[in-house]
Amino acid sequence: MDLYVFIDSVVRALVQRYQLITQSSRGAGEKSLAPHLLKDAYADLSQRYRRADASANGFQNIPEMIAYVKARFPATYAVVDHILKTELVPYLELASRLDENSNCVYLIDTILDLGAGPGTASLAALRHFGASHMTMVEQTLPLLQSAAAVFRQNFPNTTCVDVSDSLHEALFPAADLVLLSYVLTEMSESKALSVYEASLKVTTKFNVVILPGTPAAFHLLLGLRTLAIDRGYTVMAPCSHAKVCPLSAKRDVVSDGVDEWCHFRKRLDRVGAHQDIKQGSLGYEDEPYCYLLVANPMVVNSTVAHERQDDARVIQSPRKRSGHVLVDVCASSGVIEERCVTKKNKEAYVRAKRLKWGDLFL
Ligand SMILES: C[S@@+](CC[C@H](N)C(=O)[O-])C[C@H]1O[C@@H](n2cnc3c(N)ncnc32)[C@H](O)[C@@H]1O
Repeated sequence: MDLYVFIDSVVRALVQRYQLITQSSRGAGEKSLAPHLLKDAYADLSQRYRRADASANGFQNIPEMIAYVKARFPATYAVVDHILKTELVPYLELASRLDENSNCVYLIDTILDLGAGPGTASLAALRHFGASHMTMVEQTLPLLQSAAAVFRQNFPNTTCVDVSDSLHEALFPAADLVLLSYVLTEMSESKALSVYEASLKVTTKFNVVILPGTPAAFHLLLGLRTLAIDRGYTVMAPCSHAKVCPLSAKRDVVSDGVDEWCHFRKRLDRVGAHQDIKQGSLGYEDEPYCYLLVANPMVVNSTVAHERQDDARVIQSPRKRSGHVLVDVCASSGVIEERCVTKKNKEAYVRAKRLKWGDLFL
């Protein structure tokens, strides 16, 4: 389903709820929600997010939910989509090719989206995996129900269950793919750790956490990573090792204008309502994020793991110089290395020139 068709449908469902509540449902359509109300709602929401006060987050009213869907859905979707497309899908394809007797081991049939909001991560996951069953857990009822209604209409082969809940672990059903997209920074660190631990317990195959690309979020991510490793889960990305993170000591360092905590950026076009609500002059934006993809050891294919043991992650934009490219990587040995690829090695040089921040150094 097209991203913007999905967004429009969720917005329409929310506007209808708003009209019902405000008793102004005579005219159908979005016109009855004045544009300035939306812009004000977006300004309030952004201000609270900028204060980074976990307890102050959450939606106060339906215009804020609509503003979130219009302003943030495209970027968070782009990030989740990118991680699934570049990290999980290639792994599953390779593992099932190498292990012909695997039956359904490398299929994603059930999805659990915790703090689902308008179903951003769910939509990205369904695009790649077409699961038969999906559960969205979310505390904001109008948002959850609006998104669930759109999913039910458009994905008839997927049973969509919505659960209105404040992430009480006891309710989580087991799933092949568990998603926690931009939610764990909305609560205290201790609650985030306990929600994450509970999410790991129900992860039958893969678990993905996505957080904003800030030093504070990276600090939380380091705690989540340690927890996952302690509980026996295998770190798949972005790290290619389970050793101490070499960037943990530099979690809020900026040197020579370069951010040294581990994070990435996804560029996306701003179009239509997205551009309008952002009121920016640029036709694109760069969404900073950090993430952690871990696997239940039951689905870690030893052949693939062996093939990938020399993987290194590009952790800054490569620097192209005359006749050579300098690439900063986090290597599988657990150290940061600056690799220099010269023209002498033609094939590697061509590949290095195409490398981007966040890629694997191949
Ligand atoms: C920033 S939004 C992210 C929504 C969606 N996952 C995405 O990526 O666009 C955070 C969502 O988490 C929900 N949330 C935050 N704390 C929660 C809690 N304790 N229980 C349930 N949902 C929660 C909020 O209501 C909100 O919808």
